[in-house]
Amino acid sequence: MHHEPKKSSLSSAAAQNGVLFGTAVCSSDLLSQPITRAILGNCSIITPEYELKWDAVCRVQENLEYSAADQLISFAADNALAVHGHTLWWHEAVPQGLQMTSDKQFREAALNHLTSTAARYAGQLHSWDVVNESLELDHGRRDGLRETRFLAAFGPDYIEIAFREAALLDPNAILVLNEMGLEYDSPAAEGKRRQMLALLEREKARGTPIACLGVQSHLTALEQPRDHPDFRRFLREVRAMGLSVMITEMDVSDHLCPRDRKQRDAIVAETYRSYLELVLAEADVLAVSTWGLSDGRTWLNGFRPRLDGAPQRPLLFDRAARRKQAWHGVRDALLSGRQTGSELSGLRIGTD
Ligand code: G3I
Repeated sequence: MHHEPKKSSLSSAAAQNGVLFGTAVCSSDLLSQPITRAILGNCSIITPEYELKWDAVCRVQENLEYSAADQLISFAADNALAVHGHTLWWHEAVPQGLQMTSDKQFREAALNHLTSTAARYAGQLHSWDVVNESLELDHGRRDGLRETRFLAAFGPDYIEIAFREAALLDPNAILVLNEMGLEYDSPAAEGKRRQMLALLEREKARGTPIACLGVQSHLTALEQPRDHPDFRRFLREVRAMGLSVMITEMDVSDHLCPRDRKQRDAIVAETYRSYLELVLAEADVLAVSTWGLSDGRTWLNGFRPRLDGAPQRPLLFDRAARRKQAWHGVRDALLSGRQTGSELSGLRIGTD
């Protein structure tokens, strides 16, 4: 497979700050030569967008079926790409057949899935989203935890239980607590950031082996502020706790942008650039991943359709897998973003 020359590769731009660049991949993406070429030419890490989720591996009754996930992990191994595992326990990926079980049955099934999956891929993954989207302040709990089957069946210890099991089974994987909406600019988002800091402090105090905070980064153009003091402060507090950060699912919805393609692409590109520069400046970033590479396949067309019916243009490559302005916005941020974390820790070759 022809690799794009390194000089025009996001992975080489990211590597200058000791950061991995990647994207979410579905098995169907690998059927497209242009997409596969863009992945190999720009990524040093990939995230299975669906195939490693509980409802994807547990399609029929209790038996766990990993062939689709294995295909993606083999592709990564064959091409020296790291893999970010997504995701062991997530309330939206509970298999249909397990929705109505007793708490005891659910606990057994959830632990069986976690231990079987973490053991199967032990030593093969860079990192795991062990728990995804654990906070929901609208559910009214003092601790801000989302009311999920995991919380109901295990109690608030479910996060510690999941991370300790994963750490036992795959001691080399970087264990990530992944969350959405921490990057938004609203009183609700500030409340969620405060609750996340409190949760991380509590889990740290009990010895839960969380190494990294996953910030999903599903952004909205024209809503995401160019600067963001509350979010900067939050990232600094996360770093002060000794936690690294991964940008896990970055994309920029253009549903509020004018229809004109040039205008949309310019606004989206600037949103990527300013957001990424901010995070790289304030956090010890291990990896930056977008949620898909090409506008040809984005969850946003279903989740955030444009009122004018035009397809969304949220990603770095167009439907024909050609680079867009957003590619340059991300590349510029990756090259200029200062990794204060690397200066502090001195663990990585940073650029002065
Ligand atoms: O591939 C199967 C197909 O074989 C089956 O017949 C069909 C019937 O349901 O489902 C197909 O799988 C779909 C899968 O995407 C692959 O395309 C699932 O239905 C569909 O629910 C799934 O949606 C994914 C969603 O998570 C739920 O897992 C989206 O692609 C994915 O972009 C989205 O990603 C989430 C992150 O995991 C967590 N953060 C939010 C983000 C956006 O919702």
